[in-house]
Amino acid sequence: MRLTRYFLPVLKEDPKEAQIVSHRLMLRAGMIRQQAAGIYSWLPLGYKVLRRIEQIVHEEQQRVGHIPLLMPTLQSADLWRESGRYDDYGEEMLRIRDRHKRDLLYGPTNEEMITDIFRSHIGSYKDLPLTLYHIQWKFRDEIRPRFGVMRGREFLMKDGYNFDLTKEDALHAYNRHLVSYLRTYERMGLQAIPMRADGGPIGGDHTHEFLVLAETGESEVYYDSEITDLKFGNRQIDHDSHAECQAVMEEFTSRYARTDETHDEALFQQLPEERRRVARGIEVGQIFYFGTKYSEPMGATVVAPDGSRVPVHMGSHGIGVSRLLGAIIEASHDERGIIWPEGVTPFHVGIVNLKQGDNSTDSACEALYAELRAQGLDPLYDDRDERAGAKFATMDLIGLPWRITVGPRGLANNKVELTNRRSGETEELPPSDAVARIAAIYQPVLKAG
Ligand SMILES: Nc1ncnc2c1ncn2[C@@H]1O[C@H](COP(=O)(O)OP(=O)(O)O)[C@@H](O)[C@H]1O
Ligand SMILES: [Mg+2]
Repeated sequence: MRLTRYFLPVLKEDPKEAQIVSHRLMLRAGMIRQQAAGIYSWLPLGYKVLRRIEQIVHEEQQRVGHIPLLMPTLQSADLWRESGRYDDYGEEMLRIRDRHKRDLLYGPTNEEMITDIFRSHIGSYKDLPLTLYHIQWKFRDEIRPRFGVMRGREFLMKDGYNFDLTKEDALHAYNRHLVSYLRTYERMGLQAIPMRADGGPIGGDHTHEFLVLAETGESEVYYDSEITDLKFGNRQIDHDSHAECQAVMEEFTSRYARTDETHDEALFQQLPEERRRVARGIEVGQIFYFGTKYSEPMGATVVAPDGSRVPVHMGSHGIGVSRLLGAIIEASHDERGIIWPEGVTPFHVGIVNLKQGDNSTDSACEALYAELRAQGLDPLYDDRDERAGAKFATMDLIGLPWRITVGPRGLANNKVELTNRRSGETEELPPSDAVARIAAIYQPVLKAG
């Protein structure tokens, strides 16, 4: 993309309405625009990151065998009357009436609808296990939408639902989700710690929230410092193996890590003092086993091997796709702007032409642009007729992890500058070497899917 042809409405001033850094930077970098309280347009740069995050979520879901589908945003109230949640859900549910006076709602989640799909088409244990998921907009009429996309009213979520014959199988699905979530977040450059969460009215131990540590997080968290040393990395896990998934679950959840809702001070005090940490975190996902809570009232049953009809064991598993943009920025920025991890950056590398209109720099930039694209990379070329300082400020604000700077003096020696956004380190090297370096840096990212 050439910046002169792009739509990147960056703001010079700090927007007054933004209370936290990610919201401020997303507005300043021209990524989002608020259209109503908690409802945003995704401008091109924000939309690009949103799509990259969505893509990683899809790849990691499908890696472990989960199957994508797409359910609508609008749902019939009748389905929710069957589960009893139409009345229970309260004010957060946006209720709508159509011209035939039928009650609809804008889905805050999809347990009822997926259960309806399941019961309509599946009747035998032979079709299990099954996990279906989608990435779809949700609406929750939050009383206090705030912090930009972090707590919106309309937001994008991955929600997945497992259907299993037995509790044991459903707990394997739970563990498998944990495995896939660990990898998903790491690909986005995030450490998201699974913490024991509150099962709510259904109770039970089987729910974990994934938290990214950040001062601006809405949850108070308590954890054993050893947990932040854990890394999933590039392990090859057989997602069908109960034992392998269970081992990962144990490794990542045996140490103390809880949100304020489940915190147990006496247990926490048993940790050596130097390992006790109290901090704040952003919830970027949650996994949940809830048994037959929906399958029983809604009649989602299968014929078991012994011929009897039994309700299926289910769980639901969410990732806050749009919230993740805010969480990543909270975890990765400096005073000049965003610092995107390579896995989610909207453009892989920025090209800054220090002397627009000069034959040598223009053609060197064009050549770099073409060669980077030929490597399967997505560069952003700042071809505006602007001062160097303004170009650097824009690149720093929008946070591309790498920048190639092209000026007449360097070019005279066949050199350009390659700058790392995070460390600020700059290296002079021939243009072809810069392309090779960038290609090598992104090779694991491009291959990861
Ligand atoms: N209002 C919101 N705005 C943006 N993301 C949200 C919002 N509510 C929930 N999410 C994201 O969706 C994920 C799954 O939702 P869920 O666990 O049902 O939400 P909650 O725990 O807030 O009830 C959460 O982990 C969070 O990342
Ligand atoms: Mg949650």
